[in-house]
Amino acid sequence: MRLSLPIILLLFVGCKQPADPGQTLAKSMMNEKHRPQFHFTPAANWMNDPNGMVYHKGEYHLFYQYYPHGNVWGPMHWGHAVTKDLIRWEHLPIALYPDSLGYIFSGSAVVDHKNTSGFGTLDNPPLVSIYTYHDPEQEKAGRIDYQTQGIAYSLDHGRTWTKYDKNPVLKNPGIKDFRDPKVFWYEKTQTWIMILAVLDHVQLFTSTDLKEWKKISEFGADQGSHGGVWECPDLFPLFVDGKEKWVMLVSLNNGAPNGGSGTQYFIGSFNGITFKNENPKDKILWIDYGKDNYAGVTWSDVPKEDGRRLFIGWMSNWNYANVVPTTVWRSAMTTPRELKLMNTPSGSRLISIPVTEIKSLYGKQSKQEAQTITASLDLTSEITRDSQYELMIDFDTLTNQGFSIELSNAINEKLIVTYTPAQNRLSVDRTMAGNHDFSSDFSGVHSVQREIQRGISSLRLIVDCSSIELFADDGLTVITELVFPSEVFGNLKLHAAENETLKINRITITELKRIW
Ligand code: FRU
Repeated sequence: MRLSLPIILLLFVGCKQPADPGQTLAKSMMNEKHRPQFHFTPAANWMNDPNGMVYHKGEYHLFYQYYPHGNVWGPMHWGHAVTKDLIRWEHLPIALYPDSLGYIFSGSAVVDHKNTSGFGTLDNPPLVSIYTYHDPEQEKAGRIDYQTQGIAYSLDHGRTWTKYDKNPVLKNPGIKDFRDPKVFWYEKTQTWIMILAVLDHVQLFTSTDLKEWKKISEFGADQGSHGGVWECPDLFPLFVDGKEKWVMLVSLNNGAPNGGSGTQYFIGSFNGITFKNENPKDKILWIDYGKDNYAGVTWSDVPKEDGRRLFIGWMSNWNYANVVPTTVWRSAMTTPRELKLMNTPSGSRLISIPVTEIKSLYGKQSKQEAQTITASLDLTSEITRDSQYELMIDFDTLTNQGFSIELSNAINEKLIVTYTPAQNRLSVDRTMAGNHDFSSDFSGVHSVQREIQRGISSLRLIVDCSSIELFADDGLTVITELVFPSEVFGNLKLHAAENETLKINRITITELKRIW
C-alpha cells in the first residue's frame, strides 16, 4: 500500500503522541543526569502530587499528577505505578485522562469493601478514586466555580478505570479553591468521610455511597499557618501511649518555613463530625523543614496486621518545580516514610521515618567505631557507590558540639549539613551545591530550630544523586532538599566545629543499590 505524504505525516504525528509515554523505564535512563536512582520518578514528562494511594491485593498503588505531553505542568492526568515493597515500582498506563468536566487534579482512592457504591460486588469490591475536576474552560470564562469532585472505579485491581456517569458528585458552592479530596471509611458510624481543601481551611463531608456527599464541619480558618492557599489535606488516627489521636495534614503554598510549598499538621481528636486541635491555634507544626516535600498524603487500606501509616510526598516546591534542570522527566517522590506520634516535653508530635523496606537496597556497609574528631574526618573511602548511600551517625552522648557534614565533588561543589548548638539549629546549605541559576529561590541555607532542647543523639542522611533527606531526633526534625551538582558528590567529610572535639560512637555508611 502506498501512502501519500500527508498521510505519512499524519501517522508520524500520531506516533509522536506519547500514548503512554515511556511508561517502561529503559535501563539506559538510569544514566540520565540527575536521574534519581532509588526514588520514584516517571519515565518521562511532568509529575507533581502523589494521588490515590491505596493498598489492594498485595500492591501499593501510586497515582500522580501527570502531564504526558511535556516537561512542565499542563492539563492534568493521573499517572500510575504499583509496588509490592514500596521501593521497586512497576509503571502502568495512565489511569485517568481529562474529560469534558476538566483536568484531573489531586485526590484519593479507597477499596469499597462493602460495595457501598454499587460499582462492584461484595466478591469483587471496587477500587474507587475521588478526585478534583478542574475545568479550564470555565476558569477562562471568568467563573469561580470551576473545581468540583468526581469519582471513578476499577474492577480489575486498578488496571482500567470507568468514570461515574453522573459526575460531578460534589458541586462547587462558589469558592475558587475547592479541591484535593481525601476519603476514608469511619468505622464507628459506618460512613465515608471526605476532607477537602477549601481556600484557607478544610471542610469535612460524609457519604454512605461515595456518590452523595453532605457537609458536616469545617476546620482551620483561624488555625495554623496561612501563608498560602490550603491544599492536599489528609486525616487519620495514630496511637501514642495506647491513646488514639487524630492527625490532620495540610499542605500550603506559599508559607513553608523555608519558603514556598510545605506541609503543616495538626494533632487532636475527631468524633466523626468535627476535628478539634489539641494545640493552641497559632502553634504551627511542620512535617518537614526542607524545601522539597510537598502535597504528601498517606496510603489507604494498609492491612491491619501491618498497621503502619505510610506517607509519600512530592519532592519539589512550586517556587521552581517547573524549571529544575532535568530533561525528559521532571520531579521525584520522597522516600516513602512511616508516620508515627511521639511524646515530647511540649506534647505529641508527628515523626517521619524512612520505611524499613529501604533496607532491601542495602549493599556494602562500613562502620567506624569510637571516633574522636578534632578537625575533620574524611569518609570518602568508605563510600562504595558515589551517588547513593545512607549515612548514620550515632553520637557518644547527646552531642552539644557543633559539627558539619560535607558532601562534595572534584570541582568543589558542596552541600553542607550543619548543627549549630548555640541556636539549636540544623541546616542544609545548598548555596555551593551545583546548578541553581534556573531559579533565584533555589539556592540558600535552609534551617530548622529543633524543638528538642537536648543535644543530638543520632542523625540519618539518605543520599540519592539529586536529593538528600535528613532525619534527626527520631524523625521529628526532617529536612528534604533537592540538589543538582554538576558531578555526583563522591566525597564525604565530617568536621568538628572550630576548636571543639566531636565524639562519635559509630558512623555507618551503607551503599544503597539502584532500583533500575
Ligand atoms: C498541589 C496542587 C493541588 C492540585 C494539583 C494540580 O500541588 O496545586 O492542589 O490539585 O496540585 O496539579
